[in-house]
Amino acid sequence: MSDIFNPNISNIQEEKQENVLRPKTLDEYIGQSKVKKKMKVYIEAAKKRGEPLDHVLLYGPPGLGKTTLANIISNEMKSNLKITSGPAIDKPGDLAAILTKLQAGDVLFIDEIHRLNKNIEEILYPALEDFTLDIVIGQGPTGKSIRINLPKFTLIGATTRAGSLTTPLRDRFGIVERLELYDEKDLATIVKRSAKILNIDIDEKAANEIAKRSRGTPRIANRLLKRVSDYALVLGDGNINLEITRTALDNLDIDEIGLNATDRRLLDALIVQYRGRPVGIETLATTLGEETSTIEDVYEPYLIQIGFISRTPRGRVAMPAAYEHLGISIATDESISGQLKF
Ligand code: ADE
Repeated sequence: MSDIFNPNISNIQEEKQENVLRPKTLDEYIGQSKVKKKMKVYIEAAKKRGEPLDHVLLYGPPGLGKTTLANIISNEMKSNLKITSGPAIDKPGDLAAILTKLQAGDVLFIDEIHRLNKNIEEILYPALEDFTLDIVIGQGPTGKSIRINLPKFTLIGATTRAGSLTTPLRDRFGIVERLELYDEKDLATIVKRSAKILNIDIDEKAANEIAKRSRGTPRIANRLLKRVSDYALVLGDGNINLEITRTALDNLDIDEIGLNATDRRLLDALIVQYRGRPVGIETLATTLGEETSTIEDVYEPYLIQIGFISRTPRGRVAMPAAYEHLGISIATDESISGQLKF
């Protein structure tokens, strides 16, 4: 699978480019209007009180701007941002080191916070609740626990799955916000904004076309903009129009609603291979040769949003819109369709 379609996979080069495109203020940030409106109030209230912002949990599919929002929040609070991630924190001591280096008012961003080890997570509880750190010195009966006071700070946790967080951790966030997939209008605005920053000439229709095929995800829209720009440079004069956009995206095997080869294989597995019956996530992952988490975090959110698949207690099922998109008629023959009827 090409990395273009997986917002979870990025490299250093792309992260540098993403930083160039990241908006710095809430006013510059496009879309997520409900979250934005609430964050504005919370930030202003915290500033008026002269207190750090409450801890914030941001959740939702990858590539929607959780890191960008963390940057914006620290910028709006005029505080320093320290960035780490769940898998990067190996031992309890690693987290203790991060926490003891924080200064009053700092924002600590922990990406993929659902991947923190349980024993590390427990250190966070008192740190979040009353800004203290319990450190055990020595082992066994002679071991002693000492308590260190930490400066007041704000934790911003990001996760693709709020459901994977333990209840005690989730309960310690005063602000919990879900980021939604973007609509085409907002994505087109993001594409035009990015093009301007990158000095790329793109017309309205082309920006709309990229938006239409970006499966609700700014990170994918920005990647597609760069690839389409390559085509425009090689096939034309560098300016992006609708025709070049269509040629480029067709070549990338992205269909007119943004589905890629893996999406289509997933739908084909549900409809043809398993004949419309509910399919368990493990079975689906094995069939596609993907991780279950990739299917759940990367592929499913968009397919569910556009009404192509549904999660049922017995497994995943393709919905009538998916049959229609693939040009497959819904089997009514009991022997073929098994338990599924529409
Ligand atoms: N780039 C990526 N996400 C963005 C957003 N929400 N607003 C503006 N630019 C972005």
